[in-house]
Amino acid sequence: MDKLLIKGGTSLKGKVKITGSKNATLPILAACLLTEEPCVIHEVPLLQDIKTMLGLLSSLGADVTFNKNKVTICSGNQLSLEAPYDIVSKMRASIYVLGPLLARFHKVKVYFPGGCAIGPRPIDLHIKGMESLGAEVKVEHGYIDAKTSVLKGTNILLEGTSGPSVGATANVMMAATLANGTTNIIGAALEREIVDLANFLIALGAKIDGAGSSTIKITGIKKLKGSEWTPISDRIEAGSFACAAAITHGKIEIDNCNPEHLGAVNLTLRSIGCNISETKNKLTINAESDLMPTSIITAPYPGFPTDLQAQFMSVLSVADGTSMITENIFKNRFLHALELNRMGAQIKVEDNVAVIDGIKKLSGAQVMASDLRASVALVIAGLAAQGETVVSRIYHLDRGYERIEEKLHSLGAVVKRVSGK
Ligand code: EPU
Repeated sequence: MDKLLIKGGTSLKGKVKITGSKNATLPILAACLLTEEPCVIHEVPLLQDIKTMLGLLSSLGADVTFNKNKVTICSGNQLSLEAPYDIVSKMRASIYVLGPLLARFHKVKVYFPGGCAIGPRPIDLHIKGMESLGAEVKVEHGYIDAKTSVLKGTNILLEGTSGPSVGATANVMMAATLANGTTNIIGAALEREIVDLANFLIALGAKIDGAGSSTIKITGIKKLKGSEWTPISDRIEAGSFACAAAITHGKIEIDNCNPEHLGAVNLTLRSIGCNISETKNKLTINAESDLMPTSIITAPYPGFPTDLQAQFMSVLSVADGTSMITENIFKNRFLHALELNRMGAQIKVEDNVAVIDGIKKLSGAQVMASDLRASVALVIAGLAAQGETVVSRIYHLDRGYERIEEKLHSLGAVVKRVSGK
């Protein structure tokens, strides 16, 4: 298993280019199952999760070619309708094939995805959505088994106790594109990745209004066609590089990113003393001043994203004072706090609240990644720590960050990938 060795202490300088968004691309790839015509997706990031999704589509019988960052998918009429354990257990986003296959073939079996290192990840809203559209859904032998003679448009309230669900909104929106009649998703997720998926579906011929607001109206049609698409850039990768600049008191230009998608993040960066300037597709961060403490509360978009909570925890661990982070989306998403404490951080976690007493300097240590965003948080911490940090289990990192060590290296960081046990 590969590890990253990081020698901390260099301020990051220079330019970095952000790739296509993982969380926008995953449902877009699954949506290609909705049509028999070829779809071409550009700027697809070379990530393990993307490879897993493409592997799943191939295993279902779709014809998939991946060349550099361009993917062509042709989902003919002879598909297998079962997403098996060995793939779904690798990646929860496999659940995205549920809506498209049910809509097009009226029958699908998807292995039930379990929880993960960030806590329980229920799928009741996905199931509720499919049932509301008229499907009969059974969960047995570890599978979600859904079938219907026809999907019928309806009004569906999709909010759960933690607010809207990105995944359920995407799944129901995809399914409703081929349903009979009109579906209104009430309590829809507002995430930009949902808007991008809706725009892709519209390019396939779907009739969708209101994506990006809390009510999305989908008028079902008989058939979708093929199209080409370039997904939006990855706001979480951009925010992660901003954190790497902040913790190292660096000054970097983050290209191919949309600062409008980072509203709450940029406000937080400014509140801790970073200078941020924004143009249409570029963000410049200058973090030469001391870092100040702050309070962060994660929330659905446009609130502060849970996917940047860990990275900001690293940054706040060296701010001048006490900060607080409340995690409202995945309430157990704090495993990185224990690893950061190994590096000298002073973080106490109680329920879904972390209190971070800023220290002057972290010290390099051997730490272990527990999930994707926790891994990058440890890398960010290592960049500012005294001495060497070894981050193991970085396969988590490869799920969501393309060539991160090369990108960090180009910004001046001393970081190296080594293979080891
Ligand atoms: N929820 C339910 N029932 C459901 C689905 C979700 O109660 O059926 C709850 C969840 O437990 C959570 C909240 O609703 O408390 C939001 O979960 P959501 O469904 O929005 O999350 P997701 O679709 O499973 C996506 C991203 C996550 C990101 C969350 C929140 C993808 C592939 N994953 O997950 O990304 O944290 O939205 O923004 O898009 C990551 O990239 O590291 C990552 C975990």
